[in-house]
Amino acid sequence: MMTPTNRREFLAQLSSFGVLLSRPFPMRAQDAIPLRVIPATGESIPVIGFGSTKAVVQIPEAGTDPLRSVMRMLVEYGGRVVDTGPRSEEIDSQFGRLLNEPELRDKLFLATKINTRGREAGIQQMRQAQLTFGRRTMDLIQIQSLTDLEVHWPNLREWKDTGEARYIGVTVSSYNDYERLEAFMRSEPLDFVHLNYSVVETRAEERLLPLAQDRGMAVLINRPFMNGSFFQLVSGRELPEWAADFDCATWAQFSLKYILAHPTVTCVLTETTNPEHMEENIQAAFGRLPDESTKLWMREVVQGI
Ligand SMILES: NC(=O)c1ccc[n+]([C@@H]2O[C@H](COP(=O)([O-])OP(=O)(O)OC[C@H]3O[C@@H](n4cnc5c(N)ncnc54)[C@H](OP(=O)(O)O)[C@@H]3O)[C@@H](O)[C@H]2O)c1
Repeated sequence: MMTPTNRREFLAQLSSFGVLLSRPFPMRAQDAIPLRVIPATGESIPVIGFGSTKAVVQIPEAGTDPLRSVMRMLVEYGGRVVDTGPRSEEIDSQFGRLLNEPELRDKLFLATKINTRGREAGIQQMRQAQLTFGRRTMDLIQIQSLTDLEVHWPNLREWKDTGEARYIGVTVSSYNDYERLEAFMRSEPLDFVHLNYSVVETRAEERLLPLAQDRGMAVLINRPFMNGSFFQLVSGRELPEWAADFDCATWAQFSLKYILAHPTVTCVLTETTNPEHMEENIQAAFGRLPDESTKLWMREVVQGI
């Protein structure tokens, strides 16, 4: 089976298979991305979000047009979650202007990060984010990769008390940090954990995802495509025909549907500079999801390559 490169091909391919969908795919961007609940408050957010790193760091070479197109696509489908982090002042000022364009400004759930060492430097990053985003209150502030965790965490708690953060949490993107993350999740009342999980990197299933569920924490996922190396892994491989049984038409959706099938996952961040990729990724949120036995086959397919 060929991998379709855009929505038109994707829909044509599905109909050529005679795939019977449990829910129709959105033909126009009027069906909103499904939502999942943040346990701490009961607020719901769309299950597909945007990891902005690649598009933002490319601003000096590529300008803001790719970023704008991707974010417009997200918002067109009712998407809201945008994950960001501190960059250079030059980049941040352009990104900030884009985030404040009228069509985006009030529609986003903005997550940002503290990724520096030292109390004062962390506070400075928060003040910079408030300037960059033109808002006093961040939807979510995270300590990136557990950096100087014990130093920054009291500040995050204070920002929640002062109303400068609606939610607070921490991130990891490597198995190396899992043990420390687990200990922190057991000791602190995090609103969100943000970790790596995919059909290849499945280890979060063992302890962290069940723990997040027990502790009532929302879960953001990074590295759904292992920063793109997933596509090298499956390059030249045909998608299994049984992927159509859970309304999956591309390898990108194969990993995203694997992730979304975990009930504890609240939102997957997908990073892209290409609005068609954003749309393809958003489509993974519609239709059926694989069950546990299918997930086992999915792991075998990719881990056997
Ligand atoms: N420690 C941390 O806090 C941490 C660490 C890592 C990541 N993150 C967060 O997670 C986000 C995701 O980053 P990631 O490293 O995990 O990246 P990823 O989403 O796993 O992979 C991104 C790569 O996949 C490609 N891609 C995306 N959709 C595609 C599609 N449908 N078809 C083909 N290629 C596609 C993109 O290229 P194109 O531009 O060509 O689409 C890009 O090169 C980051 O932006 C960041 O917000 C956080």
